[in-house]
Amino acid sequence: MIKVEAIIRPEKLNDVKNALAQAGFLGLNVTHVTGRGVQKGIVHIGRGGETYEVDMLPKVKLEVVVRDDDVEQVVGIILKSSRTGHIGDGKIFLIPVADAIRVRTGERGEMAL
Ligand SMILES: Nc1ncnc2c1ncn2[C@@H]1O[C@H](COP(=O)(O)OP(=O)(O)OP(=O)(O)O)[C@@H](O)[C@H]1O
Ligand SMILES: [Mg+2]
Repeated sequence: MIKVEAIIRPEKLNDVKNALAQAGFLGLNVTHVTGRGVQKGIVHIGRGGETYEVDMLPKVKLEVVVRDDDVEQVVGIILKSSRTGHIGDGKIFLIPVADAIRVRTGERGEMAL
């Protein structure tokens, strides 16, 4: 199993959630985060022409744990539904998951997803 951890634009969350649900991926976790990429945030230009930098920008972290066989499909869905083509589109990390347990039943592994 792999945890797909996607940092996306907050305004894309609904599109990504809907696209995942349509493909049958229902379980997921959403956290509102602040972060920065290589541009270290953005530079604003004030009304008097002065510049000020916002270092950390609001993003959404989406976590979906999936079977190994589903990883490429899920990554493809997230890419397609979250990309604008502009800087700040986000990033996807793939993290191995040792096990999963459904609390209600005690099911383990892929059966618990
Ligand atoms: N190396 C990283 N480790 C952890 N989180 C990261 C990393 N890079 C980016 N992030 C997270 O992803 C968010 C979006 O990053 P962003 O899309 O700006 O990446 P980037 O590498 O600067 O790419 P781009 O040039 O397309 O902007 C950041 O605000 C941060 O929350
Ligand atoms: Mg960036």
